[in-house]
Amino acid sequence: MVKVRVPATSANLGPGYDTMGMAFNLYNYVTMEESGTGLNISVQGEGKGEIPLNEDNIVFQAACRVFQEVNYHPKGLKILLENNIPVTRGLGSSASTIVGGMMAANIISGEKLDKEHLLLLAINMEGHPDNVAPALLGGVVVAAGFNELLNYVKIEVPDGLNAVAAIPDFPLATKTAREAVPKEVSLSDAVFNIGHASLLVAALMKSDFNLLGKVMEDKLHQKYRSLLIPGMEEVFSAAKRAGALAVTLSGAGPTLVAFTTGKEKEIAQVMKDGFAPFNVSCRTIYLFPERDGAVVMP
Ligand code: HSE
Repeated sequence: MVKVRVPATSANLGPGYDTMGMAFNLYNYVTMEESGTGLNISVQGEGKGEIPLNEDNIVFQAACRVFQEVNYHPKGLKILLENNIPVTRGLGSSASTIVGGMMAANIISGEKLDKEHLLLLAINMEGHPDNVAPALLGGVVVAAGFNELLNYVKIEVPDGLNAVAAIPDFPLATKTAREAVPKEVSLSDAVFNIGHASLLVAALMKSDFNLLGKVMEDKLHQKYRSLLIPGMEEVFSAAKRAGALAVTLSGAGPTLVAFTTGKEKEIAQVMKDGFAPFNVSCRTIYLFPERDGAVVMP
């Protein structure tokens, strides 16, 4: 039996659309064992009652990709998912299930794949790297390209940088949120994001929170998706007034993440209050960067 812990992630980090993400200390757990025969999946916590318990289950499908890759034929599978990451809220729950399923399957089948190989399989399954890469590796990961053209770098998150997440009580499917983003953008918007994403990497590497607060801005996706998230712009402004360094749409949303070095309680309150006039109720949680990524539990 193997048990894997996989962190939540916030993708894009503002300007890093489809290329940057950060891991946080909120976890899903995948326990897997060969059971002799058949498939037995159970879910506890987030997603219980929604997540399929048959062969459509993403953890099972991710595990199968690894088994196929190494030509291993498991004798029955029993899978337990203990979920703390909210589903379809933009905190990387689907990436965590892919990474968890692949890591567990890799161990069951004799640990034939290294992390890089698992990363490539996970990106191919998810379609973009910005959630699965930090879920697997921890910290902030910048990644671009596919298969043999994949390049990625893990950046340690500077000490003292924390976050407050406001998680609205409505789901937003990634597919819907991606359809809201235009297929073509202006050169000036592209240049804006290249500059800001590059400066964000520099700010993280130099632990320069002043710069970080100025460059987590985006022109490629957030304004289009704000139409799907009533109150988003107002919550951004309120959190910044309350002391947040920067506020971003987490992944495809609808969760908003405020990055901060303090005043978490005040920021959480104004984010909640900011959504209220738009009839959006939300829960707020404090998040801390997860440095190690997915791990096998002892
Ligand atoms: N980069 C992706 C998006 C992350 O924003 O659509 C969602 O999984």
